[in-house]
Amino acid sequence: MATTGTGWREEIGPGEAERFEALAARLVPESSREGRALHRYGQIGLAGRFEVLDGLPAAVAQGLCARPGRYECYVRFSSGAGAVQPDRIPDQRGLAIKVVGVEGTKVIPGLEAAKTQDFLAILPSTFPFVDPEVFVGLVVAARERGVRGLAGFLIGRLGFFGGLGMLAKLARSMDKGKQSLAERTYFVPVPIRWGEAAAKLRLRPVERPPTPAALPRGEHHLADELRARVAGAPIRFAVDVQLYVDAERTPIEDPTVQWTEAVSPFVEVARLEIPAQDPASAAGERLTEVIEGLSFDPWHALVEHRPLGSIMRARGVAYRVSTMARGASSELEVVPPSELGSG
Ligand code: HEM
Repeated sequence: MATTGTGWREEIGPGEAERFEALAARLVPESSREGRALHRYGQIGLAGRFEVLDGLPAAVAQGLCARPGRYECYVRFSSGAGAVQPDRIPDQRGLAIKVVGVEGTKVIPGLEAAKTQDFLAILPSTFPFVDPEVFVGLVVAARERGVRGLAGFLIGRLGFFGGLGMLAKLARSMDKGKQSLAERTYFVPVPIRWGEAAAKLRLRPVERPPTPAALPRGEHHLADELRARVAGAPIRFAVDVQLYVDAERTPIEDPTVQWTEAVSPFVEVARLEIPAQDPASAAGERLTEVIEGLSFDPWHALVEHRPLGSIMRARGVAYRVSTMARGASSELEVVPPSELGSG
């Protein structure tokens, strides 16, 4: 019998690589030269510390978490749309982390010597699409024809009731901008390798006040709240890992299935600490500029954390194309935030 986490298998369809190249080309239009094809609006970019805990059980002491350690990292809170829009418009929210100074072989050919390990998280604990083609088709339909395009696309793909059901599900999963981004729990809802095992991740706020913070008013009230909050106090998240159990209850290729805690409990492996800092200072503004020019990509990973499943494989192409279109900085040249200097 396989030990917890291992025994997983990927199913790679015929002609997949070519299909994913074509999808990426559709997803990344000419206008993406000005910014990210998705998650364009960076709510705020911050410097942080990623601390791997001591005394972890062997099953989770893998890859970056194989031994205790402290790393510098970049953190980017974002909104999911491919255009900048006010925070009151329902949207997905992202939390991307780039851990810097990570030794070990990385996955992307040509970038094996990179010193970074990225983790990309969003609010829902599942991803509503099995087929990357449906996700990309939907993004393109919404971009070109708005909500009508979205509904038309989903009904065309999933039938009348299936399409409307998916539309309602997507609407429910969108964040309405009513709670601080520092007080939310984020998930990596698609699996990555965790050594020989496979895993999903969760980032959980360590201090969650009994009453949610009051939010300011304004076009970008979520960023404004984060800026004010971090100027006065640190923000901390616990990083939890949930291991694969079996193909039925914790599938690799179907991210619509919830990996329940009853089947696989989360185990805390690390802490993300964002120390108090002033994003409005000259150094803070320079940091934001650098972070906007970085590329956060789940494939910027140790071989022990290679992304798994068709959604991840499609992302492998899409992020490269989006990153190249906008001329993001090379992964081999990323330095820790403390080495940025003022220039
Ligand atoms: C087939 C599915 C997906 C595709 C094609 C896709 C595509 C993209 C692209 C093109 C970008 C912009 C990349 C750049 O220019 O740097 C992006 C950003 C992002 N995506 Fe995805 N994505 C997919 C699924 C997901 C999933 C499942 C998550 C869940 C964690 C996710 C989270 C994010 C986040 C957090 C960012 C912003 C990264 C940053 O702050 O720079 N995406 N996505």
